[in-house]
Amino acid sequence: MTTNYKTIQARPLSPAVGAEISGIDIAAGISDEQFSELRQAFVDYGVIFLRDQELTPQQHIAFAERWGNINVNRFFKATDDYPVIAEVRKEADQKGNIGSAWHTDHSYDQRPAMGSVLYAREVPSVGGDTLFASMYAAYDALSDGLKKMLLTMRAEHSSRHAFGDAAYFNADLDDLGDRLGNTAAATQDALHPVIIRHPLSGRPALYLNGDFTVRFEGWTKEESQPLLDYLYNHARQNEFTCRFNWRQGSIAIWDNRATHHCALNDYHGERRLMHRITIEGDDLGAYSPS
Ligand code: SIN
Repeated sequence: MTTNYKTIQARPLSPAVGAEISGIDIAAGISDEQFSELRQAFVDYGVIFLRDQELTPQQHIAFAERWGNINVNRFFKATDDYPVIAEVRKEADQKGNIGSAWHTDHSYDQRPAMGSVLYAREVPSVGGDTLFASMYAAYDALSDGLKKMLLTMRAEHSSRHAFGDAAYFNADLDDLGDRLGNTAAATQDALHPVIIRHPLSGRPALYLNGDFTVRFEGWTKEESQPLLDYLYNHARQNEFTCRFNWRQGSIAIWDNRATHHCALNDYHGERRLMHRITIEGDDLGAYSPS
């Protein structure tokens, strides 16, 4: 059901996560009241989408800066003129795309990025949608027994295997080498609670990451992997997800602490070009039920 805030409307894309927002024209200017409602919709839905925005790179940057300080991605190629804008690009003759596996961004950092403002500059005629999944719904649907165990646990996240010298894109298995790089900077490791208290909503959310989680604290990788796989599959159930079909000028603003995402790679032979600006996040604390 549509939520009518005072100055904007939010139309949910699914019962669990995501809403398309109307009533905002970024280029024309957004009042403080509109922005505070947009932020509330972001908290309420985990990921929000805007359509038909005509933005210069400078306007994209100015809009992103209203959400917080910009976090410059270490591993994605930036646009030529704007180091704070990362390119998420796939050319017509390329096979690999960025972000094709379910993940959330930057969990290898001590204070992982809050989220991203992704702007569609060029989209394929069909395909190239992005899926999002709610990590609140994933937590809520666990059994009481598993919740109880996970609430006491932390997991280790790392950038080393994903973006370091041994990374898949560096091993000639894929053609992502022109879009990802800087392998020497892949030195981040962080321990985070498996169930976090979301810094904005206060709700419990499952915080693991198919791309970056290495193991549970105090467990071996071999011991960890079966439970990690169970939880990843659990978290991607259809009823926890929504699917966004991009048009040129669409924007997504997602919350890395409340959602996972996955960029479908089903548009071979066509170009897709997105501009991504990532926003700094907060310390992540464990959720403790009262
Ligand atoms: C990403 O994971 O940041 C890419 C998302 C997308 O291209 O839809």
